[in-house]
Amino acid sequence: MKKISIAIDGHSSTGKSTLARELARSLGYVYIDSGAMYRAVALFALENGLVDDTLDEAGLLEHLQALELDFKVNPETGRSEIHLNGKNVEKQIRTIEVSRYVSEVAAIPQVRTKLVALQQEMGAEKGVVMDGRDIGTVVLPGAELKLFMTAAPETRAARRYKELLERGETVSYAEVLKNVRHRDHLDSNREVSPLTQAADAIRLDNSDMGLKEQYERVRSYAERILKAKK
Ligand code: DC
Repeated sequence: MKKISIAIDGHSSTGKSTLARELARSLGYVYIDSGAMYRAVALFALENGLVDDTLDEAGLLEHLQALELDFKVNPETGRSEIHLNGKNVEKQIRTIEVSRYVSEVAAIPQVRTKLVALQQEMGAEKGVVMDGRDIGTVVLPGAELKLFMTAAPETRAARRYKELLERGETVSYAEVLKNVRHRDHLDSNREVSPLTQAADAIRLDNSDMGLKEQYERVRSYAERILKAKK
């Protein structure tokens, strides 16, 4: 059976990773969370005194080449998790503190060059589901299936707020909504690889759509493409 590449892009907190992970699991494909890589670089900056209200971009660039990022499957959960310089940082990259600085980190051209090259290496073989902002446009422009996910900012903020509360973070809904809008603005307006829908991507607005419906719809797109490839 032939394998394909699947690119899932879209706004933050649209459930891209949940859908991508489930799709990868059911197809027996590798899942790559490209956002986790940008988050790990932001975490590095935070942990190494390179953020003092503003990000020390020059300081971060000095360390960039030496940064090691990879994914390893956690044997306890069976999930692929991000490692920064050999250490599992999957939990540490999900804080609101990291979310606050990650868009700034992701706007630095040298950071994108390094991470895009790594992502292309990871996606060189078919049988991959990768999610992010520029996967269908820049990282894997040849992906057979491209999706662009979106939902109303309020819906996305409510989802993210619930997640953060469940993780024990003390934040307000207003703060989360502000962060969602701020990230939308930065992601869509940065100079390098801004968030845009690829011309051949299928748009999926899930403001009023459950997980099961989304999954079934996308799975049927994948099956149609796979059938045509046989
Ligand atoms: O998907 P996420 O929220 O974990 O992504 C974290 C940040 O990284 C987000 O602000 C946008 C950025 N990002 C990016 O610029 N390009 C990608 N391919 C993935 C994420």
